[in-house]
Amino acid sequence: MPADDNDNQRISGYGFGTVDTVISVDQVQREAEKIADEGPTLERLDELAGDEAFVSINNLRAGYGKMEILHEFSLRVGKGQSLCLIGPNGAGKSTVLHSVFGFTNIFGGSVNVGSLDVTNLTSSQKLRRAGIAYILQDKSVFGGMTVEENLWMGGYLMDTPADAKVAAEKVFEKYPRLAARRTKPAGVLSGGERRLLEISRALVMEPDVLLVDEPSIGLEPRFIDMVFEILDDLQHNEGKTIVMVEQNAKKGLEFADIGYVLVSGQTALAGTGEELLANPEVGRLFLGG
Ligand SMILES: Nc1ncnc2c1ncn2[C@@H]1O[C@H](COP(=O)(O)OP(=O)(O)OP(=O)(O)O)[C@@H](O)[C@H]1O
Ligand SMILES: [Mg+2]
Repeated sequence: MPADDNDNQRISGYGFGTVDTVISVDQVQREAEKIADEGPTLERLDELAGDEAFVSINNLRAGYGKMEILHEFSLRVGKGQSLCLIGPNGAGKSTVLHSVFGFTNIFGGSVNVGSLDVTNLTSSQKLRRAGIAYILQDKSVFGGMTVEENLWMGGYLMDTPADAKVAAEKVFEKYPRLAARRTKPAGVLSGGERRLLEISRALVMEPDVLLVDEPSIGLEPRFIDMVFEILDDLQHNEGKTIVMVEQNAKKGLEFADIGYVLVSGQTALAGTGEELLANPEVGRLFLGG
């Protein structure tokens, strides 16, 4: 190899560690926009969802303040399926989850879960009535409170604190690892245990839909695998419908039934997780390949 080749910049890939590449973040953005010119058809999105969507987002225009981030964005996922959004920083991936949970301003379009139009429900109503839970991450655990106190907080919308405790007990039965630490301050948990607590807290309300933003962020590899195993169990054994965002595109697409590549607030590509993993453009731009 000529010495000059070593001058290639090593830059950080999209959650896939450091890769030898000459593609800059700006270039990824430009090239992704090119693929975005012809997005998938609604028929294709329906087909991927098994023709019976449980969560459907229809021509959504949403953003923050007066700024529109999502432009006529549509999404379909069937009951018990999982969908992963990937794409460049700032594409609007988190904004999709925020919009489903009621954290954005909605300028047009709708969000449906089952037969409910949830577009204009508050976040509390979404959790209580529509069975949608948003998994808060990282600094959302109260370190000074015990593990069980943190879990009880997941049931704050229940009729009584006693109901919340009963619901929390069910979650402890499912995760003995967490139960064993119930009286410990949450601040002493390992990164992986903390993520388990964050997921568990969302489960207290027995939601049907889990919105998960970057479950692998900040975790060591062995904990990343643990988190995906937990999500896999929730999907396949408990029938939860999962919409996730994952910077670690390879992990996310390996996990999910459906993948969307989001670019500038619109879907550039949609396919099964496997199809996107095998797509050379996706590989080059998002998998560091
Ligand atoms: N609370 C907010 N108020 C105003 N603008 C916001 C807010 N949150 C995000 N934005 C803007 O919306 C756009 C999309 O952000 P979003 O967080 O959805 O991107 P993302 O695809 O999740 O990116 P990342 O991969 O970096 O997490 C960005 O331009 C961002 O600056
Ligand atoms: Mg984000």
